[in-house]
Amino acid sequence: MKYDFTSIMDRHGMDAVAVDGLGTKAMPFAPKRPQEGFDIIPMWVADMNFPTVPTIPEAIIKRAQHPAYGYFAPREEYFAKIIKWQETRNGVKGLLPEHIGYENGVLGGVVSALNVFCSKGDNVLVHTPTYVGFTKSLTNNGYHLVHSPLKIEDGVWRMDFEDMEKRIVENKIHAAIFCSPHNPCGRVWERWEIEKFIELCAKYDVFVISDEIWSDLILTGNKHIPTQSVSEDARNRVVALYAPSKTFNLAGLVGSYHIVYNRWIRERMLKESSLPHYNDMNVLSMHALLGAYEPEGYEWCDELLQVLTGNVNYAADYIEKHFEGVTLCRPQGTYMLYLDCSGWCEKHGKVIEDVLEAAWAVGVAVQDGHFFNGPCNLRVNLALPLSRVKEAFDRLDKYVFNA
Ligand SMILES: Cc1ncc(COP(=O)(O)O)c(C=O)c1O
Repeated sequence: MKYDFTSIMDRHGMDAVAVDGLGTKAMPFAPKRPQEGFDIIPMWVADMNFPTVPTIPEAIIKRAQHPAYGYFAPREEYFAKIIKWQETRNGVKGLLPEHIGYENGVLGGVVSALNVFCSKGDNVLVHTPTYVGFTKSLTNNGYHLVHSPLKIEDGVWRMDFEDMEKRIVENKIHAAIFCSPHNPCGRVWERWEIEKFIELCAKYDVFVISDEIWSDLILTGNKHIPTQSVSEDARNRVVALYAPSKTFNLAGLVGSYHIVYNRWIRERMLKESSLPHYNDMNVLSMHALLGAYEPEGYEWCDELLQVLTGNVNYAADYIEKHFEGVTLCRPQGTYMLYLDCSGWCEKHGKVIEDVLEAAWAVGVAVQDGHFFNGPCNLRVNLALPLSRVKEAFDRLDKYVFNA
């Protein structure tokens, strides 16, 4: 490999929530700190423990060396590089600079789009398991989540179209959140599934907010289909949200973007995004994106996907072989595993809190599935060097599932 996905990066003292957030009052939802003798293996918050592609720090440093950071406007290259990335990675055609709008965060974009489509208190369709950020942002902004459960068919998470239709009608729903790929389940939706979902939404005049923040993180053998690409109707019905933040580990720099083809929706959305006066690009964050979408970034991302695929295969095989009663559907995208521990807990007379306490005590900082509406689940982040993943699974084996 050309890039470094094996060195263990020490993130302590670098303001990383993933390690320094443990056991602090500011992060009551973080895992607890480990016992003496165990170091932290961060497997919870959705960022990565790999150094990003060198062209990003190079671009930031180059710009930072110019000692003026006054008001600025994004340069044309910003839009050109997004268009090229979308064209090359996702096969997107006909994307123009005017279709692209800046968002501080994908979740901010989700809320701005909801503010266009809904009145406060309106019902919004989401799938469950549900990404905790949707739950928090929607609730915080006065929207009511209506959950349509995903169901497992032959080891694959699928949408339940009958259930969605019933809920859309009963709750007079006109906005839906679509997470593609799905966090935490790791589903990369197939074209026919997206088409069927969009047809259902069209039937009942439901607008769709498609969160595609994970769309670059597609494991070997799978393909991301942009929701807007499935039909002319989808192009007009869907607000899509993207960012380089998951792909290149840039969440701390802040910066994402929306693609909206429909002029009316786009102009309404820009208005909504502007209202709090906090939706402005940061010059260093723009240069981070420019560095990410250099040719090296394409190469780095390809190598990352090989590493993540290897990690996911290692972890899934290990679980199937050694952790009786723990089940999962193999993810097709993201770097998350979503484990169902109910069989194991039942057999051992335990609850998920016992599993979490035992894992956290030995430094395996996995996340409680309750945040995703899972009754007895763990979410496990595998974006670490394989040696760390192996160490984590050794500890889970010895101290948690086969103690
Ligand atoms: C599906 C999904 N959407 C949005 C976000 C957060 O994005 P942002 O930090 O840009 O608001 C995350 C972060 O994990 C995510 O998983």
